[in-house]
Amino acid sequence: MAKEPVRVLVTGAAGQIGYALVPMIARGVMLGPDQPVILHMLDIPPAAEALNGVKMELVDAAFPLLKGVVATTDVVEACTGVSVAIMVGGFPRKEGMERKDVMTKNVSIYKSQASALEKHAAANCKVVVVANPANTNALILKEYAPSIPEKNITCLTRLDHNRALGQIAERLKVQVSEVKNAIIWGNHSSTQYPDVNHATVNTPSGEKPVRELIKDDAWLNGEFIATVQQRGAAIIKARKLSSALSAASGACDHIRDWVLGTPEGTWVSMGVYSDGSYNVPAGLIYSFPVTCCNGEWTIVKGLPIDEFSRKKMDATAEELTEEKALAYSCLS
Ligand code: NAD
Ligand code: LMR
Repeated sequence: MAKEPVRVLVTGAAGQIGYALVPMIARGVMLGPDQPVILHMLDIPPAAEALNGVKMELVDAAFPLLKGVVATTDVVEACTGVSVAIMVGGFPRKEGMERKDVMTKNVSIYKSQASALEKHAAANCKVVVVANPANTNALILKEYAPSIPEKNITCLTRLDHNRALGQIAERLKVQVSEVKNAIIWGNHSSTQYPDVNHATVNTPSGEKPVRELIKDDAWLNGEFIATVQQRGAAIIKARKLSSALSAASGACDHIRDWVLGTPEGTWVSMGVYSDGSYNVPAGLIYSFPVTCCNGEWTIVKGLPIDEFSRKKMDATAEELTEEKALAYSCLS
């Protein structure tokens, strides 16, 4: 029997990530090839005409799984009945800015959209915040939508996770699909800690730790980390626009694994509400390694943390604590 369509909200849908993301969702990349969807696309009035253009293209693409499109500038209409919300709406940073420099513009959006989601989305709606500063916007959304279960509000660090896998694959000249279990700890910012201490590569002679295959500690502890931390800035420098296709693809991976589950023996990185695991302060949205099963994520527990990692995990937590205070000062 055909499945009932799932309503998926994309905010900022007339923007560049939106333009890359909505066809992926309509093709089943996010929820699976047998899951019909109804797309809810929200943008602001100055972008209404462009949003309508995206809607026209969705019609023209004749996606078999796409059972309806709501294109609107009304946040209530956009949020009504959605089971998945991908929050992309906001302002991207430009060359020379840090992600928190877009804080004043973006956190107030998340405060106001929190109540619309709380009142009008489906009861168990899964939310991922993409717009920067992603962790702190997600935290504000969580705090101003107290009736949404905190487990349902996350932010995107899967792009960083995928970037880490990509760098390892390039260095070893292997397929990226053979590399797994990198970790992004902390903030989706230049203080994030991409950790390969537990990452492995599937080789013809079995699964091997990345640190056994790449014996160059100077590279793993230096250039590799800096490249992943600075990748967003490098894309902005090259494209004069921030990443879009990789961000859209990361958002699909994030929701797909959350809803459909992570493969056996594999974890992914998600920005989730900290419960104090790994001595990360509770009350921050912090990126952890997680596995997903039956629509629920669980932090991977008990991984050994060395001194080098501890310092980096604490530094990014500290930045998130500062961002949280800054966000509240922007809202007051
Ligand atoms: P963009 O400017 O192309 O698109 C953003 C869209 O949001 C625009 O159409 C704009 O009109 C709309 N918008 C603004 N205010 C809104 C509101 N209140 N409600 C609904 N829509 C609103 O930007 P983009 O390149 O698509 O990037 C979007 C966001 O995603 C930026 O904040 C960017 O920094 C962030 N980003 C995050 C990641 C990540 O990995 N977390 C990766 C890439 C980009
Ligand atoms: C990215 O990581 O590509 C995005 O967060 C955009 C940015 O500002 O870096």
